[in-house]
Amino acid sequence: MWIFGYGSLIFRPSFPFEERREAWLKGWARRFWQGSTDHRGVPEAPGRVVTLVPEPGARCWGMAYRIAPERVEEVLIHLDFREQGGYERHFVQLETREPPSLEAVVYLAGPANPHYLGPATLEEIAAVVRSAHGPSGSNRDYVRKLADALAQAGEQDAHVTELVRLL
Ligand code: SIN
Repeated sequence: MWIFGYGSLIFRPSFPFEERREAWLKGWARRFWQGSTDHRGVPEAPGRVVTLVPEPGARCWGMAYRIAPERVEEVLIHLDFREQGGYERHFVQLETREPPSLEAVVYLAGPANPHYLGPATLEEIAAVVRSAHGPSGSNRDYVRKLADALAQAGEQDAHVTELVRLL
């Protein structure tokens, strides 16, 4: 089984894997539209973390991790707990540098989840990120680590780049 990470799962996988590959999810864009009350914020002051939103023509870069069959159950239990703040598992088809494509599990926080914050201007998002803190650290640190991972991979994500510039 493969797991696709496009946010904190890129820079802090926290589970055992056999192999990792860069991968792209077509038709989806990374957006800081999900509220975080358990990692990068608290219930009284939620932070903003990424989810994926459908967008024709978009292509989201991330990291795909291959999990050994005997560890799948343990890894999914761990990730279901870690991503419990509104994320649900979905199966997606990923593009990689070399064919074949991969089927992977992705954790996605849709608009119906109770922590969803939805669209906002990048100025509004930056204002939240500047002040939010949670058990996993500051919201600013989350954004910086994601931006660093994108830069290291040579990937462009205008939404992330512009947010970092505002911060
Ligand atoms: C992910 O990284 O794939 C999910 C969102 C997050 O935990 O930041």
